[in-house]
Amino acid sequence: MSHQNSSRPADASGTFALGGDLTVNRLGYGAMQLTGPGIWGEPKDRAEAVRVLRRAVELGINFIDTADSYGPFVSEQLIREALHPYADDLLIATKGGLTRPGPNVWRPIGRPEYLRQQAELSLRHLGVERIGLYQLHRIDEEVPLADQLGELVLLQQEGKIHHIGVSEVTVGQLKEARTITEIASVQNLFNLADRSAEDVLEYAERENIAFIPWFPMATGELARSGGPLDAAAKRHGSSPSQLALAWLLHRSPVMLPIPGTSQTAHLEENAEAARITLTDDEFDALAVAV
Ligand SMILES: NC(=O)c1ccc[n+]([C@@H]2O[C@H](COP(=O)([O-])OP(=O)(O)OC[C@H]3O[C@@H](n4cnc5c(N)ncnc54)[C@H](OP(=O)(O)O)[C@@H]3O)[C@@H](O)[C@H]2O)c1
Repeated sequence: MSHQNSSRPADASGTFALGGDLTVNRLGYGAMQLTGPGIWGEPKDRAEAVRVLRRAVELGINFIDTADSYGPFVSEQLIREALHPYADDLLIATKGGLTRPGPNVWRPIGRPEYLRQQAELSLRHLGVERIGLYQLHRIDEEVPLADQLGELVLLQQEGKIHHIGVSEVTVGQLKEARTITEIASVQNLFNLADRSAEDVLEYAERENIAFIPWFPMATGELARSGGPLDAAAKRHGSSPSQLALAWLLHRSPVMLPIPGTSQTAHLEENAEAARITLTDDEFDALAVAV
């Protein structure tokens, strides 16, 4: 688009007003890949992790997704190190409710006192007085949803959380959550190769709730050369990751993809997806190609 600044490709992704008042560019960044292997511990190259975060903001990305459990805490601490004091328009969304007994292991705990502790720790690790978007990372089936979200509502009333989101939910759970409090966003697994959350996306679109697809590039499968998008990408003159992300952006105005990467070069490549406009025919062809 002609009005876009060439050094800030993410501006071309269009905006979404999360919760009605936090306006961000739709193409965001997911900060999970910044930690060590198994989303555990320190990154191999800390300086590059800091560079990735600073570059993201330079590229016009103003929506960054993280969680207390990434590291744990490493991702949030890196964000603070790289970007604090934060730009006014930067929305850092974090999450709580998944515990980390070890690398690659994730267990939900939704007891209110635990969620409160984790929100308090996220405030400290991020260095903020209020978290713009706090997402319940997983619903804990052992705890009534009203107690889990109820604690987040208390934190909201105390001014520690601005908006509340949920993650990995069914339409039924999302509707139930909305009887308890206002839900600004839903974050579910969704990409070209796995569209099983289509019903949640359609509901979110109808209700103007942000839909944040995690694993937007099928954790790299859709981004690799030689992968399922390779041929289409060559025809289109883009990279596979760019097509995967452009497809998501085209799919719905409430879609806020958060591609993850630990490398500046990949970040720059992915951000350019915002400038790709697919025709409806191209969009349909990709949907059947994968
Ligand atoms: N709510 C949840 O339960 C949940 C679960 C999982 C993830 N998430 C969120 O979703 C975000 C995205 O998920 P994700 O990062 O796991 O998966 P993803 O965005 O689908 O893919 C990331 C993977 O793709 C690779 N990659 C990225 N750009 C590339 C490129 N241009 N060319 C080749 N390879 C590329 C990355 O490797 P390099 O580092 O080498 O670039 C990384 O291994 C996370 O960061 C996190 O914020 C949420």
